[in-house]
Formats: sequence, C-alpha cells, structure tokens
Amino acid sequence: MWKIGNIEIESRVVLAPMAGITSLAYRRFMKPFGVGLTVTEMVSDCGLIYDNKKTLDYIKTFDGERPIAIQLFGSNSKNICKAIDIVLKNNPNVDIIDINLGCPVPKVTSTGAGSALLKDPIKLEKYMREIVEHSPIPVTAKIRLGWNENSINFLDNIKALENAGVKAIGIHARTTAQMYAGKARYELIENLREKMSVPLIVSGDIYSLDDAIRALDISKADAVMVARGGTGNPTLVKQIDTYFKSGERLPNATLEQNIKYLLEFTDLLIEEKGEYRAMSILRGIAPKFFDGYPGMKQIKNQIAQTITTKESLIKILNNINQ
Ligand SMILES: Cc1cc2nc3c(=O)[nH]c(=O)nc-3n(C[C@H](O)[C@H](O)[C@H](O)COP(=O)(O)O)c2cc1C
Repeated sequence: MWKIGNIEIESRVVLAPMAGITSLAYRRFMKPFGVGLTVTEMVSDCGLIYDNKKTLDYIKTFDGERPIAIQLFGSNSKNICKAIDIVLKNNPNVDIIDINLGCPVPKVTSTGAGSALLKDPIKLEKYMREIVEHSPIPVTAKIRLGWNENSINFLDNIKALENAGVKAIGIHARTTAQMYAGKARYELIENLREKMSVPLIVSGDIYSLDDAIRALDISKADAVMVARGGTGNPTLVKQIDTYFKSGERLPNATLEQNIKYLLEFTDLLIEEKGEYRAMSILRGIAPKFFDGYPGMKQIKNQIAQTITTKESLIKILNNINQ
C-alpha cells in the first residue's frame, strides 16, 4: 500500500491516462484486474469553462472507481483553478487533480500547455503553486524527462513541483521529442525516488510483468503505469498487482479468456458510447486482444477493417472457435 496525501492506494498499478482510450468504459473494464488508481483522459480546462457538454462527460466516474484522478491540461493556472471548481461541483467523488505536463502534441504544446510547461522550471513552480493553493484536494503532475536531448531537466522540474506542493509525480521516461517512439529511458531515472520527497509513478514500455519489476527496481518508484501494454492485455494488470502482493507469477491469458474480456469490454463501451462509436473505437483496439497468439493475423485485419456492429464482431469471433 502507498499513499497520495491521505489517500491510500491498494495496488502498485496505476492505469495510465490515454486520450481516446481511457474513457469511463475502459476504466470500468480494467479496474477489477487490480488497478490501484485510475486517471481520466486529459481534459481541457477551457472545455470545462465553456461548459462543453462533451467535456463534462470526461469527468464522469463510476461507483467503485475511487480513488480516481481527473487529469487537466491548460497553459494558464487561473483557468485550471476555475476548471477544478467545475470538476468538483459536477463530481464530488473525485479524489485527485492530475496536471498534464507531458503531452507532446503540437496542438497542445503550441498553446503553452502539456509538456511545453517543462521548459522553464521557475515558471512551472509558480503555475503549479497557484493550482495547489487553490485546490481543496491533492494535486499531482505527470511529466516527461524533458523537452529534448539537450534539455533533460526532470530533476529541476521535480524540485519545482515538490516546492509547489504536489503530492505525487508521474514520469514518462521519454523526452517530448521522442513522442511515443524509441525506448523508455529507465537508466536516466535510476534511484530517482530516493531523491524525492513525494511518491513517484513511472511510465513507459510496460508490456510484461518483468518490465514492471525492472522499472520499479531501477527507479525505486512507488507504482508503475500500465498504458499501451495493457490495451488488449488486461491480465498484465493482474500479473503485476498479484506479484507485488504475494510474489506469485500468474500465467498470461489464454486466447479463450481474452475473447471473453473483449466481449466484456465491448458491452461496456456500447453502454457508454452507443454501438456506432463503440465499434469505431474497437476497430482500433480490439485487434490488440489477439496480439501474441499465433495465426491471428487475418482475424485482426478483419476486425480492424470490417466491424460495424456487435453482431459483426461476434461473427468473426465465432470463426476463431471453429
Ligand atoms: C493514445 C495515447 C494517448 C495518451 N494520452 C495521454 C493523456 O491524455 N495524458 C497523459 O498524461 N498521457 C497520455 N499518454 C501517455 C501514457 O499515459 C503513457 O505515459 C505513455 O504511453 C508511455 O507508456 P507506454 O510506453 O507503456 O505506452 C497517452 C499515450 C497514448 C499511447
């Protein structure tokens, strides 16, 4: 067990925020596998301020989800403060506000939000201090190593965040310039937790239990984030959570189990988004449930290219069992 402020977290697995993926249905689906803390997709401060109905959907949570963090992004601390008030007015179950300081997408960084805020630790400290002082609930932050190879400044940024009063820090062990490619650089964050006064969550290339063990061992972090490696492989969460509670190594899911998980997720996604939207999202995600099983190439292509209804998905899945 570890803590963010006074909030106890029962598992060392944090479900990474992923825009377009970690909506309510995905979090509902993943939580029972042993997620200790869920984080929403990143939510725009201005989207909340301008009362965009779709934006309010991003901050919905489900019974049994707590502890839950809402992730906000924006360049201006005053707008983030206003957005926090709106979040808490609309959803009193929220436990933590996480600030996105890692998004590398030019549409976001060009406005001064996301990882653009990592360029200047002094400015960052001022921005975060205003947010922390305003927020009635704990504030955390998610950063990257730095902007590019010439500015790997995470130690300065971590100091700034600690000075500002954040209660935990997540680090994606890549630079902004790396986006999502190239290896996560755990060698740069060796023993990082020992240099910090608040809990550390590490992120990057967690595809197996051994990846998680290694990431935690090198960094001495309190928790690990499961991101792309958990999409289509929810058992990974269970493997990590179980190992760190009992030392037991659980086997990978069988193909049959993964088909069952895919159908469970499909139902939750349809409930949240309606069948049409759900199927469009599933064309991207569902093939991942078949990664690592031999002979699935055609099935994966069929799913990615043709499913438009739950029925059409089931038809393809039935072909697997024959
Ligand atoms: C499609 C996608 C969307 C993401 N959206 C967010 C986001 O909204 N907020 C955030 O802090 N990180 C976001 N991330 C970064 C992940 O949380 C994670 O740090 C990153 O994918 C590295 O982990 P991995 O290599 O294990 O996937 C996103 C990543 C992906 C692949």
